[in-house]
Amino acid sequence: MKKYIALGLILAGTAAFAHGGVKDPDVMNRMMGMSALAKHMKLIGGMAKGETTFDAAAVNTTLGKMSEEASYIPSLFETEADDPKSEALPVIWEKFDTFTDHAATLETLTSGLAGTVETEADLRSVVQQVGKACGACHSTFRE
Ligand code: HEC
Repeated sequence: MKKYIALGLILAGTAAFAHGGVKDPDVMNRMMGMSALAKHMKLIGGMAKGETTFDAAAVNTTLGKMSEEASYIPSLFETEADDPKSEALPVIWEKFDTFTDHAATLETLTSGLAGTVETEADLRSVVQQVGKACGACHSTFRE
């Protein structure tokens, strides 16, 4: 019985996580949060590049999800956890207010954009603005 449970966990683990080798649960959780953001960004970016069919409703829903995900960033990083695979810089916990300001910027930006996308032409500016908000935090707080 135990064997089956272990195998189930391993399979669930490989399906859900693309971060092999990360052992610290807090680091894993925050990486999963970031991966969710990246997945959402990819969906919008794919449409912006014309790789996938434009779907205004899907973009607006995705922006709403990104805002929700961004609202979790401060709690995901609250614990100063580390892992050999982590790219988080220690300055996060020295300047946690600035760090959470970046998260709040992303949250406000995406919630404000959600519902505004009507045509394919709107996508470019959305991708630029959101990408800038991700990059603003990464440039200081990520390796
Ligand atoms: C408030 C700061 C902040 C914001 C805003 C932010 N990130 Fe991150 N991101 C980080 C930090 C810090 C890490 C490194 C985490 C670690 O390795 O422990 C990271 C890591 C990542 C990773 C790598 C995850 C992994 O599996 O190792 C991806 C992908 C990512 N971010 C995408 C995004 C995208 C897309 C956005 C915008 C939609 C975004 N991030 C916004 C701080 C931020």
